[in-house]
Amino acid sequence: MIKLVAAVLAAVLQFLLPTAASSDDHRLLSRIAFGSCANQSAPQPIWDAINKFDPQVFIWLGDNIYGDIRRPFSFIGKERTIGPWKNAPRFVPSPHSEMLSRYNMAKNVPGYSRLRANAKVIGTWDDHDYGLNDAGKEFSGKTTNQRLLLDFLDEPQDSPRRKQAGVYTSYTFGPPGKQVKIILLDTRYHRDPLSSDGSVLGASQWSWLEKELRGPPSALTIIGSSVQVISNLSGTTGPLFYMESWGRFPKERDHLFKLINDSKRDGVFFISGDVHFGEITRYDCATGYPLYDITSSGLTQAVEKVLPSPLHFIVRFLAWFTPSTMRVMNQHCRYRSCTYGQPNFGAIEIDWDASPVNLKMQVRDINGLPVTGVDISLSELQAWNSTSKAGQEQKHCTLEVKLPWIVRYRLAILVYSVLVLLLLALVGLIFAVAILCRVCLKKCKTD
Ligand SMILES: *[C@@H]1O[C@H](CO)[C@@H](O)[C@H](O)[C@H]1NC(C)=O
Ligand SMILES: *[C@@H]1O[C@H](CO)[C@@H](O)[C@H](O)[C@H]1NC(C)=O
Ligand SMILES: *[C@@H]1O[C@H](CO)[C@@H](O)[C@H](O)[C@H]1NC(C)=O
Ligand SMILES: *[C@@H]1O[C@H](CO)[C@@H](O)[C@H](O)[C@H]1NC(C)=O
Repeated sequence: MIKLVAAVLAAVLQFLLPTAASSDDHRLLSRIAFGSCANQSAPQPIWDAINKFDPQVFIWLGDNIYGDIRRPFSFIGKERTIGPWKNAPRFVPSPHSEMLSRYNMAKNVPGYSRLRANAKVIGTWDDHDYGLNDAGKEFSGKTTNQRLLLDFLDEPQDSPRRKQAGVYTSYTFGPPGKQVKIILLDTRYHRDPLSSDGSVLGASQWSWLEKELRGPPSALTIIGSSVQVISNLSGTTGPLFYMESWGRFPKERDHLFKLINDSKRDGVFFISGDVHFGEITRYDCATGYPLYDITSSGLTQAVEKVLPSPLHFIVRFLAWFTPSTMRVMNQHCRYRSCTYGQPNFGAIEIDWDASPVNLKMQVRDINGLPVTGVDISLSELQAWNSTSKAGQEQKHCTLEVKLPWIVRYRLAILVYSVLVLLLLALVGLIFAVAILCRVCLKKCKTD
């Protein structure tokens, strides 16, 4: 009897311990999907394509729900949300009950429920699920909302992640020698205000990250950041508009690159979301091998939706016209710009049987078809083999802000020129009408 109890206990322990002690999973990982920016109130047909891809792991990169309240643009009236005379914020946090009901709605989307049944779902947050557009460490709802995100992700009740300040965490999947480490950053909880050039991660998360990177090696290390790491779009869209990204915190970005380089870790790349379009960028001058950033955004939110479909070509033209020094351009992209402004998800496939091991990283559309992608061997993400492709490919080293001004600001120049032309046309029109009226009046009088 005692033997039986002991055996049962041992079996129960064996079953419980691996999950309780760590998040390690020793099964070979070869298919990973990720995505961001999903409006819980909108239809989410993209889950069909994601389910068809059949990922073993799905990674949420933030804006997993739209939790805050967006007020309409208004120039006039009591509450003005835009213009120099603005007196009310455009975004306000939702009450707790509303956050909860939005998370419930998101969790019950049928396609997503199917995914949860078949794949391990992990994730981090961005601003709208953190609770407020563009918010950082100053946001008061962060501890409450941390619990809501972790509930949404089915984080165990006894997880240390529920006790720390921020939702950053890491996972290791796969058997020894074929391990994939996934590091998920929290770019909100400790972030200083935009344009302060302060901290993105905060001291405790930085020392944790350093330990993670210096820890046992893995074949691949995927760093998930809600905001883009490599592309600094603001460098070429300012002064028209600015986006959030690591590029807005140059000191922190350099620190991140230095940490990766100093750790001598091979096989590191980034995945990101936030911007409402998909693209792949790379930076070749931070470590001994190119640092890729696969951006997929969003699952429902997409930049082309701001205009009716007959006008989508304008968005595509502007995307192509805006210079980019980091974007990976190739002939396989759906559009000339190699960006994709319709709903999309990220798909990573690792062929462990190939020699050398092969890595396919793609952004895919609502039908599961690739719109941009790179197909590389794992050895290209190793410092000692980085020179293999030198000369064959364009080097991505020039920062956007280092472009000649006429190139860097060509979007702004175009937009302002068009506005000036329109204004001139309007003035001309008014002038013509005025003259016409005078002629008419004269004619009336003489008649
Ligand atoms: C989400 O979708 C609903 C329904 O289509 C829409 O009313 C709402 O404005 C959307 N929210 C965002 C943030 O796009
Ligand atoms: C990114 O662009 C912004 C806006 O132009 C600039 O302030 C910042 O220094 C740039 N960051 C990097 C890393 O080039
Ligand atoms: C990366 O580290 C190596 C030393 O391991 C150093 O020689 C190299 O200059 C560093 N690269 C950058 C871009 O800092
Ligand atoms: C270095 O990279 C090249 C290009 O991908 C590859 O063909 C070669 O096998 C790699 N070298 C080693 C030693 O893995």
